[in-house]
Amino acid sequence: LIVFLVVWLVLRFNRYIAPNYKYNAPISDTDIAIVDIDDLEKNAATVIPSAGFDYIYGGAETEKTMARNVQAFDCVDIYPRVLTGVDTPDISTSILGINISLPVIAAPAAAHGLAHVSAEAGSAHGVAASGTIMSVSNYASSSLKDIAAAGKGAPQWFQLYLSKDDAFNRQIIKQAEDLGYKAIILTVDAPVGGNRYRDIKNDFKFPLELPNVAKKTIKTKGQGISNIFAAAQNKLTPFDVFRVKRMTKLPVIVKGIQQPDDAEIAIAAGADAIWVSNHGGRVLDDTLATIEVLEEICDAVKALYGEYEELYEFI
Ligand code: LAC
Repeated sequence: LIVFLVVWLVLRFNRYIAPNYKYNAPISDTDIAIVDIDDLEKNAATVIPSAGFDYIYGGAETEKTMARNVQAFDCVDIYPRVLTGVDTPDISTSILGINISLPVIAAPAAAHGLAHVSAEAGSAHGVAASGTIMSVSNYASSSLKDIAAAGKGAPQWFQLYLSKDDAFNRQIIKQAEDLGYKAIILTVDAPVGGNRYRDIKNDFKFPLELPNVAKKTIKTKGQGISNIFAAAQNKLTPFDVFRVKRMTKLPVIVKGIQQPDDAEIAIAAGADAIWVSNHGGRVLDDTLATIEVLEEICDAVKALYGEYEELYEFI
């Protein structure tokens, strides 16, 4: 009985004794043939440790919004024209003055190190090879420097969660500027971490450091997402957009807009661009899908700023 009790106690309180539990991120470096993006997701689930996979994959609460994002997007269909004299389809475009080979960019997501040991440096290498933009979370598991180096000059944007520590905000923005990042993405849709049932069930803690925010006073390894968010500035107002604009010469993209009124407020506060997003349904469940709100937001912005077309791109 005593042995049983000791084993039970160790298992029960293991996370307090050893919060930096072992995590075996995939290390394989062989090429994979991707035919179908859904297969990629299925294959990833077989090689990424399950708690890490759930953190990357999962959404808030019942994941209704997360699923709705996909369903609504699937309902947006192509309405093709023919006889247009095209022999080589070209889907390249540009965004904020950056030419990209396809109208898709890599969204910022935390902790790529959960998916592969090469972490964001590996992703940056792949995104650069695709000819598009890599967005880098300040909750990345590679350093901003290593990610910039892996991109070899390909365009990268830096996604900021404002910290409560303003000196830190200035320092990390300056670091991103010095490393050649081309825009600051200011996240406004995640004042607190999402209530993610998967992470709660897995008792998920980051098994790896988040080197860009880890400091003596802020632990990241062994912490859950709520603790990470606790170090961020939770209360945000239009003045914060204005403040960040004054901290940098780079364009500031306000990410997480879901309503026309908020689009107007963010732009009036100085946003160079807005990023319509519900954070992949990872923060708040029971919202509309991003694609469902996109058109009304575009219409509202066009109604206000359409006459300045040379200043505004609608993408
Ligand atoms: C998340 C944050 C970190 O969705 O972007 O997990």
